[in-house]
Amino acid sequence: MLAGKRILLIVGGGIAAYKCLELIRRLREREASVRVIMTEAAKNFVTPLSLASLSGDKVYDDMFDLTDETEIGHIQLSRDADILMVAPATADLMAKMAAGQCSDLATTCLLATDKPVMIAPAMNVRMWEHAATRRNLATLRADGVHVVGPNEGDMACGEYGPGRMAEPGEIADALSEVLGSPLAGLESPRLEGKTILITAGPTHEPIDPVRYIANRSSGKQGYAIGAEAAKLGARVIIVSGPTRLMPPPGAEVIPVETADEMLQAVKDELPVDVGVFAAAVSDWRTASQADQKMKKDGSGKVPSLELTENPDILATIASSKKDRPGLVIGFAAETENVIQNAQKKLEKKGCDWVVANDVSPDTGVMGGDENTVHLVTSNGVEDWPLMDKSDVAARLMERVCDELDEGVWT
Ligand code: CTP
Repeated sequence: MLAGKRILLIVGGGIAAYKCLELIRRLREREASVRVIMTEAAKNFVTPLSLASLSGDKVYDDMFDLTDETEIGHIQLSRDADILMVAPATADLMAKMAAGQCSDLATTCLLATDKPVMIAPAMNVRMWEHAATRRNLATLRADGVHVVGPNEGDMACGEYGPGRMAEPGEIADALSEVLGSPLAGLESPRLEGKTILITAGPTHEPIDPVRYIANRSSGKQGYAIGAEAAKLGARVIIVSGPTRLMPPPGAEVIPVETADEMLQAVKDELPVDVGVFAAAVSDWRTASQADQKMKKDGSGKVPSLELTENPDILATIASSKKDRPGLVIGFAAETENVIQNAQKKLEKKGCDWVVANDVSPDTGVMGGDENTVHLVTSNGVEDWPLMDKSDVAARLMERVCDELDEGVWT
């Protein structure tokens, strides 16, 4: 969805500026062209030379550069693009944008543009939570500025919380969403008239009112599949455990917390044509949940949690006599013997395909933007190369369309 799009990337002065190098690479991989403006402060974090080398264009930074002004002019610079992307959007840049200040080339272009603007905020958690930043954010949103992130996590300053700039892949996805309304971009609605149900994300299994058992799933792969299916014209329902993701355009998201709730929500949506079970469902929940917060009794004794098994959503639906979807696709999250374990799951769970992936910590798959998967079916195993999760989703949906064309399911 970014092919042929022109992105004016405004790099602000924050530690996250280094991620812009990766962002440019990602955008160009998706065949967008990138032109870069950097603020004076940004030069403390990343060099104009690296930005120029990656973008393949000169980097603009001086409002009063006569050559630039005669060649292109700052008004034209801001309007030549399809979208202006501010990354990292520091507290200072956000304040200037909200106030309509134009004290340098970056802020002048932001004020002069008639194109959509997106910001990827990045700052210390206290600055992000400060009333002034909240106010500026509300003003920018009201002005129609799109916002991606920030994410929660460890910060360069040693604190923890929201304030980390969104990852390059997330920013590229957000730009695709804004620039190409998926339905408008439909070239061939190969899944028109079909309903695809996807489970995504982790489940949270309560221990007491404030604690729960969870896992590291981000939901990105399931949401990416939802986005691709919607682009192909399908009706998309994502039954989602708790995530920080925006619903993909055109998809309906049904939020749930526990495995029990996820199973019930899935059953409520049947029948569907295709079921994709990408959720990292917790295998166990506590046998009982405390009504009140569990307290230390001062004796140093630690409580032990008795666990009980959760329902297997995929196996339940795949074996359902009445409402089994025409095509049932499971995932296999493995840390060893990936293919063999996936083949066992294909059989044991009764699904048609299994998308197997290695989720060992060193792969960065859980929570990351990329994945190396193997498509395991009764016909054999296809090894796919390392890809962005959105590309894995696109390829999987293409396979679904091919099956449909071949009349394997109707
Ligand atoms: N799954 C499910 N309900 C569960 C557990 C898993 O629907 N209670 C689905 C997942 O969404 C995935 C597939 O089953 O499509 C395999 O999940 P995975 O976590 O890889 O395996 P498990 O079934 O949990 O088995 P194990 O933990 O032994 O690997």
